[in-house]
Amino acid sequence: MRLISFSILLTVFAKNVLGGSVVCPSGFSVLNNNKCIRLFTNELPHRQAEVDCRFLGGTLVNVKNAIDNRGITNIAATAGVNSIWIGTYCFDVNNGTNCYFDDKSGQLSYSNFAAGFPRVYEPYGGCTYLVTTGQYVGQWYNSKCDIAGMAFVCEAPISYFDQSYCSHNYNGYCYYPSTELQLTTINTTYTRAQSLCQSKNSNLVSIHSMRELDYVQSLYRSSQTNSIVLGATALLPNTFDWADNSAWNFSYMDPFSNSNGDCLQMNLTTRLWTAIDCQANNYFLCKRPVSSQSVDQNQNDEIKFIDDPDFSQCNTTFFMAPGVITSFGYPQAGLPSTYCTWRLVTLGSYQIGLFFTHLQTFNDVVVYDEYSNPIGNAHNRSMMIAPSNIAIVSFKSGGYNAYTGFSATVLPY
Ligand SMILES: *[C@@H]1O[C@H](CO)[C@@H](O)[C@H](O)[C@H]1NC(C)=O
Ligand SMILES: *[C@@H]1O[C@H](CO)[C@@H](O)[C@H](O)[C@H]1NC(C)=O
Ligand SMILES: *[C@@H]1O[C@H](CO)[C@@H](O)[C@H](O)[C@H]1NC(C)=O
Ligand SMILES: *[C@@H]1O[C@H](CO)[C@@H](O)[C@H](O)[C@H]1NC(C)=O
Ligand SMILES: *[C@@H]1O[C@H](CO)[C@@H](O)[C@H](O)[C@H]1NC(C)=O
Ligand SMILES: *[C@@H]1O[C@H](CO)[C@@H](O)[C@H](O)[C@H]1NC(C)=O
Repeated sequence: MRLISFSILLTVFAKNVLGGSVVCPSGFSVLNNNKCIRLFTNELPHRQAEVDCRFLGGTLVNVKNAIDNRGITNIAATAGVNSIWIGTYCFDVNNGTNCYFDDKSGQLSYSNFAAGFPRVYEPYGGCTYLVTTGQYVGQWYNSKCDIAGMAFVCEAPISYFDQSYCSHNYNGYCYYPSTELQLTTINTTYTRAQSLCQSKNSNLVSIHSMRELDYVQSLYRSSQTNSIVLGATALLPNTFDWADNSAWNFSYMDPFSNSNGDCLQMNLTTRLWTAIDCQANNYFLCKRPVSSQSVDQNQNDEIKFIDDPDFSQCNTTFFMAPGVITSFGYPQAGLPSTYCTWRLVTLGSYQIGLFFTHLQTFNDVVVYDEYSNPIGNAHNRSMMIAPSNIAIVSFKSGGYNAYTGFSATVLPY
């Protein structure tokens, strides 16, 4: 027993430059002191690999320097794996190629593509893999995402050792679901929940990135809890502040919700947020920074919820979610008949979620997958989830007076 826990400690804690002990989620180990990684040797299609990584609060690994590239290559090769999916997705943009990291840090700051790559046209595709053995060791290639499976490496952010009870230690914070807090009250009003969190030196949870949103969902994945109240209250109608005074720099409001209330609830199935009455009883989640130090979040993971739908984005070939698209000239009726297409994209780890918040059209609004196969026709207040991170919308306005067109919110889903 002693031996086992000692060897676990060795892989999980490593000395960090700043002096704190680095902590990774269970099953992960520290790579070059900057991220937590875990190799999965089961071979999965790209999307399933992404889903599995997110299930653990991570993404496919984002390789950002030659040392990490070598480290990951060696780990995979040692385990007898010849190639692995990595967290890079390439789009074609005006017939050029743009590749992005899955962690929202933007276009690649480092890459190790083989000669002639990235290449997304037939028979290749937007997904990226790393060859870990043989003549092309360490080099990156593109392929279609839905080809037969491949092994993969997930990454999660590093955190730091906390002396107190902190069973969910993630990215510099400890998370405590009310159901695990040895409290007699596990669901209650906002005010009472916040004071219970404060009695544990924490606050009701604030959420600042897509990754954190995924992580919070993962904490409840095998529980009976359907929703939690978030640590936010409305200062003005529809203007929320976090109880822990952190910046309001991310939001995931349900585009269809027209509920009222000064508090927010997160649906643990869809992750979407809706306004609720602060007096309602809800399960809750407390969060506090780890005591040792704050983590430098090298994550430019902000979602600006674009609330300005008077820009149709007609004929865009690269519209990065989140945002809003509308029919041309929306909501003016009676404009000349106009044909538009929209090519919507999001990072490789998410699917395109389309929420038609307004639809009053003569012709159909047709949604296609990335290969131009129709997924369906939009209806008023319908939600459509594309099978991958690319979707195409097409619509021809009829030019009739009675039809105002459509507006749709596009979210990474
Ligand atoms: C895009 O570029 C590829 C290779 O450079 C070429 O084969 C293809 O015809 C181009 N497609 C369009 C639509 O221009
Ligand atoms: C609150 O928890 C109690 C006890 O677990 C449960 O019976 C009740 O249904 C919960 N209330 C809500 C609103 O979920
Ligand atoms: C958002 O706010 C959080 C908490 O204050 C901060 O840690 C994070 O860096 C911010 N993110 C961005 C993209 O500004
Ligand atoms: C969460 O969303 C799902 C899917 O829309 C819905 O069926 C469920 O009722 C929602 N749960 C709560 C607690 O609102
Ligand atoms: C969008 O593109 C189509 C096809 O290229 C074109 O017919 C249409 O006029 C364009 N729409 C606008 C508003 O420019
Ligand atoms: C769309 O649905 C909403 C809510 O169901 C309704 O209020 C609105 O009038 C509908 N719009 C049209 C154009 O049918």
